[in-house]
Amino acid sequence: MSTPTHSPSREEVMDLLRAGMQYEFGRTGPPEGFPQLPVIPAGRYTDPTFLELEMSAMWKRSWVYACHLDEIPEPGHFLLFTRLGSPVLIIHGKDGVVRAFYNTCAHRGAPLVQTPGGKVEGLVCQYHGWTYGLDGRLVNLRDKRDFVGLDLNCHSLAPVRCERFGNWIFVNEDANAPTLAENLGHIPGFFAELAPEQTRFVHKKSYHVKCNVKVLLDAFLEVYHLKSIHQHTVDRFLDHRGTTIQLWAGGNSFMFTPNRRPDWEDPGTRGMPKVPGVSEVIAKNNPSFMSYPNLVTPVADSGIPFILFWPCGPREMEIEVVWFAPGDNGEPLSPLWETRIANFERILYEDTQFAEFIQQSVESPGFRGLTLNYQERRIYHWHEELDRRIGIDRVPEHLRVQQVLAPFVSAVPVSPPPAAAAAEPATP
Ligand code: FES
Ligand SMILES: [Fe+2]
Repeated sequence: MSTPTHSPSREEVMDLLRAGMQYEFGRTGPPEGFPQLPVIPAGRYTDPTFLELEMSAMWKRSWVYACHLDEIPEPGHFLLFTRLGSPVLIIHGKDGVVRAFYNTCAHRGAPLVQTPGGKVEGLVCQYHGWTYGLDGRLVNLRDKRDFVGLDLNCHSLAPVRCERFGNWIFVNEDANAPTLAENLGHIPGFFAELAPEQTRFVHKKSYHVKCNVKVLLDAFLEVYHLKSIHQHTVDRFLDHRGTTIQLWAGGNSFMFTPNRRPDWEDPGTRGMPKVPGVSEVIAKNNPSFMSYPNLVTPVADSGIPFILFWPCGPREMEIEVVWFAPGDNGEPLSPLWETRIANFERILYEDTQFAEFIQQSVESPGFRGLTLNYQERRIYHWHEELDRRIGIDRVPEHLRVQQVLAPFVSAVPVSPPPAAAAAEPATP
């Protein structure tokens, strides 16, 4: 695999993606050397002990999106993040820095805040009044004389890693994890033209679905299902035969799907303000990113949805959809957002209502596991990364996936298509 010596320009990226789509339209099978993907054991979607392993070794040690700066815009604003179990307090400091702490008092473990969000001057524990600064340092306590040898400096709130990408705030409970930037890998490079520092929070909503988190997540990593599940919606304008995929390190990936007609414009976004000067990559196609483990974002120049997948139990999950408007120009938000969100909800419903039936069906003794094809390889890539993060030897052998996709992981944002790309392209 050739490694360029410079970051590719938007034109170079578009040229590579165009060549990739042409290759996909023209191929008669997977590229030379692409393996038969081994079956993914069904138990990974049903076994409570596997989910426990997944939670402790992966979810609670990964970078996950928590909130947007607009939700805690001023010093003292806080938000309680509870998606992965231990409540984490995310708070905007007097110095403008956003920090995260476990919502647990260093005295006897009472919560510092009990509401999902709000604004405070300082953090006063409601149990015995220990007082912390917005930076988590213990500043005062009642009856200090009664504590022998107590050092205030040793009783700060326990920090949780908290880093920003643009105005988006992510947390990670693993103190030793690589940085958020390392986790995001190539994604910020693609987002640069959407000005992540200027996005505005628009709307968020969660939906409880009775399935394993991976059942629904899988559906957002491929477009193989469009012709069945989204026959009357997405399939009418997306052409899945031209979809080109990049697998990146760390379980991240990218899927790029052409429109059926090059001049097609989503009627739901017509009239909405768009980021000026956005390249063809985003403006004329359908790029969708996976930031491991649970953020899928199909960006457009008129709006960015973060689709988040949260485990709630072996057979329960929540899907959360958060919308952002790119390019804050100080104007009020467009009234067209309401229709835009409603249109998306209709498509989402097509996926969620089916997911509950899939869960019942994968529980069946008649189901052995997932047999994936070339265009579903992002799902396999996700599972391989899960085992790497857990530690391959710690995954019970009957639930393990084989590591086969390493030769197909791209070190660069977009790899050129295989040499067979010279094959005659089919007419789209
Ligand atoms: S538990 Fe917080 S002051 Fe006692
Ligand atoms: Fe779908």
